[in-house]
Amino acid sequence: MNIGTFDSGLGGLVITRALIEAMPEYNFCYLGDTARVPYGNRSKETVYNYTKNCIDYLFKKKNCKLIIIACNTATFAALRRLQQEYLPQNFPDRRILGVIVPTIEEIINKNYSSVGLLATQGTVSSDVYGIELRKRKDDIKLYSYPAPLLVPLIENNADEFAEPIIESYVKKFVGSDIQAIILGCTHYPHYKTQIGQIAMKVLGRKVDIISQDEFVPQSLKNYLSRHPEIERDLSKDSSYSFEITDINDSYIAQAKSMFKDESITVEKVDI
Ligand code: DGL
Repeated sequence: MNIGTFDSGLGGLVITRALIEAMPEYNFCYLGDTARVPYGNRSKETVYNYTKNCIDYLFKKKNCKLIIIACNTATFAALRRLQQEYLPQNFPDRRILGVIVPTIEEIINKNYSSVGLLATQGTVSSDVYGIELRKRKDDIKLYSYPAPLLVPLIENNADEFAEPIIESYVKKFVGSDIQAIILGCTHYPHYKTQIGQIAMKVLGRKVDIISQDEFVPQSLKNYLSRHPEIERDLSKDSSYSFEITDINDSYIAQAKSMFKDESITVEKVDI
């Protein structure tokens, strides 16, 4: 059986690449919902329905044992409900994991007292990061701002327009004492280096960039070592598939660029 990775669009290819680099022996099936991206400004109910639809496809058609929801918006809007309602009724022996809890653990491990968050409007409005952080450390300060324009830039292969937009978002943290910026959207690691450089320029000091592709693979490895009943059902043929729900030349070019491999084959699927 396979490991599924799901994102609202192409951003999740960055984390999928990191997962494949860290665990190349496993089989990975990527699904990006390019037909319906962005999710970040939609209602929670709509994001839940879209996500359930994609998860259903990965379980039924791609024989996934375990799915990583790489999308922060889908994680906050759908993960718990899928785990509590959908899985027990449909696939009680399979699992769905998200990216928010590993990020919270990373922040707690690093012992920060003040952090910034850039994420979609939906993720920021939900305050999911604040709620989860305060459960573990009640005096931590969190400064959250939506950075929605980075998603269409990435989905449309338009990196040359990114700098002033990133700068305007990072300027929101001026006057705060943040030690790190959480990239709370699957797409943003694509601009990780640029965000770090612009933060240095705008804030006049170095802040850490918390990028999910850097620790989610280790978190998945830890999960599998704690759950041998899941791990033993995973095939190890190093087979990878990359599917999206809408396709055109620009999506294909951007997928290859996000995955940093021109040779990957990207296919359209009907879900
Ligand atoms: N993938 C989404 C996330 O991580 C952002 C893109 C979108 O708005 O669909 O939140």
